[in-house]
Amino acid sequence: MKKQIFYFTGTGNSLSIAKKIHNNLKDYSIHSIAAEGYLAEEETEKQIIIVTPVYMHNIPYIVRNFIQDLHGTGFCSMIFAGGGELGKCIDIIEKMFSDKFISLISQFNIPMPSNYTPFGAPDQEIQKKLFNKAHSRIGEICQMISEKKVHTDDSNTSFFSRNIHPGIAYSMGYKYLSYLGKSFTVDSKCDSCGICARICPVDNIQMNENKPIWFQNCQQCYACLQWCPKEAIQYKNKTSSIERYRNPEVTLKDIMTSNTKTSRE
Ligand SMILES: Cc1cc2nc3c(=O)[nH]c(=O)nc-3n(C[C@H](O)[C@H](O)[C@H](O)COP(=O)(O)O)c2cc1C
Ligand code: SF4
Ligand code: SF4
Repeated sequence: MKKQIFYFTGTGNSLSIAKKIHNNLKDYSIHSIAAEGYLAEEETEKQIIIVTPVYMHNIPYIVRNFIQDLHGTGFCSMIFAGGGELGKCIDIIEKMFSDKFISLISQFNIPMPSNYTPFGAPDQEIQKKLFNKAHSRIGEICQMISEKKVHTDDSNTSFFSRNIHPGIAYSMGYKYLSYLGKSFTVDSKCDSCGICARICPVDNIQMNENKPIWFQNCQQCYACLQWCPKEAIQYKNKTSSIERYRNPEVTLKDIMTSNTKTSRE
């Protein structure tokens, strides 16, 4: 049986959790969905773990597509390394696995600092608490996964916020995630280094006359805005005075590697 950890990340939270799981479960291999998504198509028996952020109470499109393409038999555990408010993620994942030969055995909610900068930067003390709490759960989660224990964490989202407000706003907004890349702007601090275009997991950015331009396939991972060394990328002019967020255990090189497609040889 193939044992594999798959992750998607923009600012490193999901990668840091995936690495910690990997340190505990050394017989698993670790793969980036953005770099090697095609592994989903393998018709093998597998035990897999998927680590993902949460966007607008939902799952990133790239992770949804990965799960849709997932073939073979075996077991899957989901780990949400979002901001803690899962909204409809647990129900959506259950539905997605209902017609697969891979059984969904567990879903875990590991709250991490929010990288949604338009709402403000996460407080340093809160970050520390979240990292400590996350770290302290890893051993228990790995144990449950190895024992194939059936388990579902709480979505930490009230009925009101799941279905009324912001539920409605999020459900409507989620459909337009891919177009929201057009809301990014670049200011005069840009020195044309091209990092934003190289770091984007879906090649949604191109350099045009030495400045980035965004297309309409954005995942809203915020890698471009958060990793720009000059803090020159803004979201609808709301972010110029807000500190950037990047997981402290992850480097620019890690994210570059995670988000660069490997060849399909
Ligand atoms: C556009 C956007 C929407 C988000 N929506 C949610 C949400 O609905 N619930 C939540 O818990 N976190 C939400 N977040 C926070 C991220 O899921 C969280 O910071 C995650 O840890 C980032 O993972 P990464 O560092 O691996 O990219 C959102 C972030 C972004 C950029
Ligand atoms: S990463 Fe920042 S400085 Fe570099 S090209 Fe992109 S916007 Fe300009
Ligand atoms: S354009 Fe920026 S936010 Fe959108 S997918 Fe690319 S790196 Fe992520």
